[in-house]
Amino acid sequence: MARRSDNAATLRSAPSATLPASKPVPELSGGWPVLGHLPEFQRDPVAMLSRCWRECGELARFRLGPREFVLFTGLEAHDCYFRAPEDQLDARAVYRFTVPIFGRGVAYDVAPEIMAEQLGFLYPALREAAMRRFARIMFEEASHFADALGEAGEIDLPAAMNELTVNIASRCLLGQEVRDRVDSGFAAAYHDLQEGINALGFFLPRLPVPAHRRRDRARRRIAGILGGIMAARRRSGAAPDDFMQTLMQARYKDGRALGDEEIIGILLTVLFAGQHTSAVLASWMGLAFACEPSCLARVREEMQEVYRETGAMSLASLKQQAALERSVRECERLHPPLILLVRKVLKPVHHAGYTVPAGTLAMVSPAVSHRLPNVFSEPGHFDPERFAPPDSEHRQHHYALIGFGGGKHRCMGKNFAILQLKAIWSVLLDRFDFELETAVPAPDYGSWVTGPRAPCRLRYRRRPQASVFR
Ligand code: HEM
Repeated sequence: MARRSDNAATLRSAPSATLPASKPVPELSGGWPVLGHLPEFQRDPVAMLSRCWRECGELARFRLGPREFVLFTGLEAHDCYFRAPEDQLDARAVYRFTVPIFGRGVAYDVAPEIMAEQLGFLYPALREAAMRRFARIMFEEASHFADALGEAGEIDLPAAMNELTVNIASRCLLGQEVRDRVDSGFAAAYHDLQEGINALGFFLPRLPVPAHRRRDRARRRIAGILGGIMAARRRSGAAPDDFMQTLMQARYKDGRALGDEEIIGILLTVLFAGQHTSAVLASWMGLAFACEPSCLARVREEMQEVYRETGAMSLASLKQQAALERSVRECERLHPPLILLVRKVLKPVHHAGYTVPAGTLAMVSPAVSHRLPNVFSEPGHFDPERFAPPDSEHRQHHYALIGFGGGKHRCMGKNFAILQLKAIWSVLLDRFDFELETAVPAPDYGSWVTGPRAPCRLRYRRRPQASVFR
């Protein structure tokens, strides 16, 4: 068990951001002229960032081409990073490349307090009553997906999880009308919009290259679909209980209603933040269940216990599946879909006697931080039971497990995502046995969200046992 000495109370009593600072942050060895550490970063960013921690400790400085970065690693450094005010560590400057996708006037195109107000409209739509409805939808969608798989076969795991999470997200987050249009245009347009997130778009989001033209066409198409649904709801007076309706009825503090473009932008922000990340973590979970028989046995045993009486999936039953939840968290720890969180330093940050100057890009890497041996015992080892009470390793500090981020920009969809992952794998593990014929694929760092590298195929066969669901 990793030690528990860095408790949050101690850290709170000595906020590191106010400590007098003197020294420059230690620099990672081995940088090249002009390119800095770019070649090493491109080869394997997590290996390079782990070297930062081993060589330099909590704060490590390096260059990627012309840009200067500082990596914050360890519980106290996380505390400094996640508690810094927005006018010191700024997310907007970094995520501006999303503006052509989410649209003008929302998210990273507006002041942080307006973005917070816009996302804040959605919290009521994620409360307990809504989650009860979502649990039913997740079960229906996962069952429908499992029905279509038949008796036996092979799936491309990331593609399968992508399809399933688009169906769930469109129905829960956007509305039934969008779910009805998934196969007739929405999924294709959403795919083109996703392709608009590429390395070029990060630096030159408006450059008129074919991928960006497709992205802009796709956005117009999605805006047309969502705009049409809103107009139809207004005409018919229909007011279903979903994110779209919540936004249609929301008012800013000054009493102003949201325009259709703002509603579309906020819906796209949430869809982008939540769907692909969920699909990727669902894929890592599938690999874990195929390769970790003792974990699989524990999860199935728990399903027998939980569903023995009712045989019905609900929010309450999913909450009882504690062993399954520990598997989700262990996959989050070993395979966080977002391996890097980035902010721009607007005012110097002082931590542990070092100064991070304005203009630097400040990073936290969940992929590196989740494998710190002083935080997680045997960090490379897959062991969901490390999260079992009373000594749950992630409870030693509120920023020990950070796959869903932390601080002001922490994930608003964490509970939704965990619920969804539990619902999907409960249905699939109930129905099928899975087998991986190759070695576990390495992470694919070539994309914004880190999933398993292709090919990633699982064989499945329907289980002879009776289902726990009736
Ligand atoms: C396994 C699935 C998910 C993972 C791993 C994940 C991870 C994260 C992380 C790490 C952040 C912080 C980003 C940063 O600090 O720069 C974040 C933010 C966010 N997430 Fe998630 N997320 C997931 C699912 C979801 C879902 C399902 C939703 C919506 C229902 C969602 C909505 C958001 C939003 C809107 C933000 C931005 C919050 C802000 O900047 O104020 N996420 N997520």
